[in-house]
Formats: sequence, C-alpha cells, structure tokens
Amino acid sequence: MSNPKVSVLLKSNWAESGLVLDVRRGLGSQPRTLPPKWLYDEAGSRLFDQITRLPEYYPTECERTILRDAAADIVAASRATTVVELGSGTSDKTRLLLDAFADAGRLERFVPVDVSEETLRQAADMLAARYPDTSVEAVVGDFTLHLGHLAGYARKLVAFLGGTIGNLYVEERGAFLGALADSMTEGDELLLGTDLVKDADRLISAYDDAQGVTEAFIKNSLRVLNRELDADFDPDAYSYVPFWDRHMQRMDLRLRAEMPQHVTLPGADLELDLASGEEIRVEISTKFTEERLRAELGAAGLEIARIWTDPTDSFAVTLARKVG
Ligand code: SAH
Ligand code: TRP
Repeated sequence: MSNPKVSVLLKSNWAESGLVLDVRRGLGSQPRTLPPKWLYDEAGSRLFDQITRLPEYYPTECERTILRDAAADIVAASRATTVVELGSGTSDKTRLLLDAFADAGRLERFVPVDVSEETLRQAADMLAARYPDTSVEAVVGDFTLHLGHLAGYARKLVAFLGGTIGNLYVEERGAFLGALADSMTEGDELLLGTDLVKDADRLISAYDDAQGVTEAFIKNSLRVLNRELDADFDPDAYSYVPFWDRHMQRMDLRLRAEMPQHVTLPGADLELDLASGEEIRVEISTKFTEERLRAELGAAGLEIARIWTDPTDSFAVTLARKVG
C-alpha cells in the first residue's frame, strides 16, 4: 500500500481551473464578488493558518474544544470506517477525531479533500505517518465540483469543519448539500462545523484582528489575480472593510477602492473601472442558528442526530445522517 496516495482532480493551472470564468462572472458584475476558493494559494493557506492562532479568532479554539470533548461520543454514534474531510487544510483539529476513530480500531481510510495542493500533500504525509494502519487517500479537488468522487466510499463520515460551509452563499449551500447527499448512502454521516450567530462586536473583532493578518489574507486575493491573470491591482489602493450584515446573518468582507482604479486582467481578457469608494466583496462568512441548520440540512435529506456546542455557545458541531 503506497501511503499516502494523492489524486489530483483539479488542474494545477488555476487560470484553467475556473478562475477566468469566476473572475469574469464575479468581478465583471454588480456587486463585484470573488469566490473564496481562490484565496488559498500557498501564501493564502499560510495566512489562514496564522488566522487560526490569533487571539481574536475564536472559531478554531471553540471547535477544537468541542472535538476534544465529543470525539469519543462522535465515534460511538457513528458507524463509519472511512472518514472524509472537505476543505481539510492542515487537518490539525481533525486529528482529535481521527485519534478517537483509530483508538476504537475503526479508521480504515482517511480521505482529505482540498484545493490547496501543497498544504494537502504536507498534511497527507503527516497523517500517513501518524496512522500507519490507515489508508490515506488525499484528493486535490473542489468540493463544489467533485463530490461525485466520494460516492464509491461505503460507511463514511464526511467532516466539513471550520465553518467553511458559511463561506458559501445560501443557494450554493443548497446545491452543495444536495450533491453531498447524492454522494452518500443511507446511514452515511456528515459532521458539520458551523459558527453561530452572536453579538456583532465579537464577530467583527474576529475578522478584523489587531495585527492585520485577516486584512492581508483578504488582500492576498488581489495578488493571486495579479500572478495568475497578469492583472495590475495595487493592493495598497484598497482598504479592508469587514462588517456584520445582520439581515443576512453573515460577515461581509470587502475591499474598497479609495481612489478610482483602472485595472486590466489580460489573462481573463477583462478591464475594470472602479469608482472611488467602490467595493469588491471577497468573502462572506455566514453564522447559523440551530433552526437554520435544521432547515438547510433537512432540505437535503440529512437528519440531525446531535449538536454539540462549546461552553460559550459560540460554535456548533452537528452530526447528521442521510435518511432514505
Ligand atoms: N478545515 C480547516 C481549514 C478551513 S479553511 C479548519 O477548520 O481550520 C478552508 C479550507 O478549505 C482551506 O484549506 C481551503 O484551501 C479549502 N477550500 C476552500 N474552497 C474549497 C473548495 N471549493 N474545494 C476544496 N477545498 C476548498
Ligand atoms: N471558514 C472561515 C470563516 O468563515 C474562513 C475564514 C477565517 C476567513 N478567517 C477568515 C475568511 C477571514 C475570510 C476572512 O471564519
């Protein structure tokens, strides 16, 4: 058994793997947007890793606490022998869950899926060494496109942690959960990490840290476009504008042009004129209530078995099961 095994479903050339289309569709229309998966080049993945260690960014530690306290219960409630992880990144917190599966002698296979190839390969090497009896089958892929690939795995638990589902728009979440449910057999499980609605101050400080790491992470999206599409964005000409959209119950993370900008993106055959004060929405981060979780999962045929929260009720981890 070669361990880890890495399958690449995504073209390594980003310009060819959908960036051009996403940029034309997103940046070329109003409001201007960018899909989040393009934030995670090597520099972006490193910055995100730093974000998870910031004192203001509570979600990582809250989710870690939940996983630490609930791992044995999750394994006991699960019938899985394969754990899949979507948007796995470094799989750092996931080890708490994997340790519990391994301790119970139930970790036959681990399938981490991420668009960030370098981060994924490093994580896969680390995990293969940590779990010598487990087949580590990493997939460089896009969880909005490649869920069909998972259909072949029987008795699986699909972990989707970090609140990443909240970075999708509501229609995208519906499509994602529908495709995920299609890739699951009756009895397969989803373990979903979601950030919860809370007071605006705490939310804003989590996405507007004192050291400016989050700002650098959001601005890195412009550097990705400069590199991949030969664009000429001047990152310093934009200010970072994070705000809580209380009607949509989501953080809305934008870049605002402080002066009129003319931008050329030769690789996408696109030119943009941004007025002074015009904004690009780079990312949203939706916050959930239990009712919303139940409704969105239920609509996809996923029934909640149990919800764990941390002692401060900041974050939730939900175990749901595909029903027939
Ligand atoms: N699960 C980790 C990382 C969360 S950050 C944690 O909880 O800390 C989001 C991760 O999802 C990044 O590693 C990013 O590369 C990945 N990602 C973002 N969009 C993706 C997509 N469409 N398909 C696959 N992976 C994606
Ligand atoms: N899923 C994470 C979240 O929504 C991703 C993230 C963390 C993030 N920090 C960020 C996205 C800062 C944009 C900006 O919280």
